[in-house]
Amino acid sequence: MRLESLALKDFRNYEQVSLELDPGLNIFVGDNAQGKTNLLEAVYVLALSKSYRAAQDSDLIRHGAQRALAAAQVRKLAAVELGFVLSHTEKKRLLVNGKAAAANRFVGTLLAVLFSPDSLQLVKGAPADRRHFLDVQICQIDPVYRKTLLEYQRVVRQRNSLLKAAQESRALLGQLPAWDRQLVRLGTQVILRRLTVVEQLQKYARETQREISQEREDLDLVYVPFFALRDGGPHKLPASEAELSEAFEKALRELHAEELRRGCTLVGPQRDDLVFLVNGRDLRKFGSQGQQRSAVLACILAELELMHAETGEYPVVLLDDVLSELDKNRRLQLLTLLNAKAQTIVTATSLDSFPQELVERAAVYRIRQGRIA
Ligand SMILES: Nc1ncnc2c1ncn2[C@@H]1O[C@H](COP(=O)(O)OP(=O)(O)OP(=O)(O)O)[C@@H](O)[C@H]1O
Ligand SMILES: [Mg+2]
Repeated sequence: MRLESLALKDFRNYEQVSLELDPGLNIFVGDNAQGKTNLLEAVYVLALSKSYRAAQDSDLIRHGAQRALAAAQVRKLAAVELGFVLSHTEKKRLLVNGKAAAANRFVGTLLAVLFSPDSLQLVKGAPADRRHFLDVQICQIDPVYRKTLLEYQRVVRQRNSLLKAAQESRALLGQLPAWDRQLVRLGTQVILRRLTVVEQLQKYARETQREISQEREDLDLVYVPFFALRDGGPHKLPASEAELSEAFEKALRELHAEELRRGCTLVGPQRDDLVFLVNGRDLRKFGSQGQQRSAVLACILAELELMHAETGEYPVVLLDDVLSELDKNRRLQLLTLLNAKAQTIVTATSLDSFPQELVERAAVYRIRQGRIA
C-alpha cells in the first residue's frame, strides 16, 4: 500500500501544503519545531481517524483557523481518496472517496505503523503502552475488534460510575449483574483476539530477533491477562473461551468487595499486560538497553508482517526521529529491510544519520516553518 499524495490545510503549523510521495523511502529533514512530527501525525490521523498525541481533535487545527482539512490519495489494488475535516464548531468528518464515512469503515483503509522515540519504551514503559501497541494494530486489520473494544470501554466507564454511585446508595447494586455479564462477554472477546494476535506476532518477532542477534537470542511475547498477573506472572493460560470467561468471573467475584470500596472496575483486559522474554528471562527486568531496543524493532517489523498476512498489504511505515536513537548497524538493517517491503516516511534533523546509498535512492524534502521544499 502506498500514500501517493497528501494535502493539508490549516493542520497544526501547516497553512497549506501539498506533496507527492515516493513509493519507496521519503526523508523529511528539518530543525526542531518546524513541522516534521506534525506531518506524520496527519498521516496517522488518516490511518486511525484520531491522533496519538492530541488530547482533542481541535488541537490539530492551526491556531487562529476555523477548520483543518486533509486529503490523500492512497494506492492499493484500487486508488482510494481519504480525507478529514476538523472544525471547532462541527463534528469531525471522515471522508472516503469524497463521501462521509463512519470511523469503523475509515480506519483500515490506509494502514500505518508509527515508530517514534516513545516506541523504544515499549518494553520498559507502562502496561497501557503495550496494550495500546496491540490495539492500534488490531483495530486497523479488524473492524469487529475495534467495535468490540469501544463497546467494552463504554461498559467499563458506565460500570465505574455505577460502582461509585453505589457507595452512596447500595440499592443501585441490583443493576450490577447486568453490567457484569456485558463486561465478561465483551472483555473475553477482547482478550481472545489479543491472544491470537500476540501468537502471530511472536512467530515473526522471534525470527527477526534471531537475525538481529546473530542467532543468540530467542524472543518470546507472552500476553498476560489480569487474572494471571494476580497469580504472580505468566503461566499457563486458559485455552478456551469458556475457560477464559470462567477465570474472568472468578476474579470478578474475588474482587467484588474491593471494587465497591474503590468505586472502580479492577478486572478485565484494561489491566492486562504483554511480557517480553529473551532466552526465557523477563526483558524488562534483565535486558540491556540494546536488547530491549532490538526487541522493539523486532516487534515493529513483526507488526508489518502481521498486517501483510492479514490484509495482503504492507502498511506505510512512519519513522519519527528514531534513527539517531539506533546504532549504525541497526539503522542500516532497519532501513534496508523496510525499503524492500514498505513505503517509508522518515523524519530527521539531518541527513547524517542515513546511509549514503539509501539517501541516493530516497526522495528528500526540507521542512521549514510549516513549508515543505
Ligand atoms: N494547532 C497548532 N497550530 C499552529 N502551530 C502548531 C499547532 N500545534 C503545534 N504547532 C507548532 O508546530 C510546530 C512544529 O511542531 P512539530 O512537533 O511538528 O515539530 P518537529 O519538526 O517534529 O520538531 P522536533 O524536531 O523538535 O521534534 C511547533 O512549533 C508547534 O508549536
Ligand atoms: Mg518531532
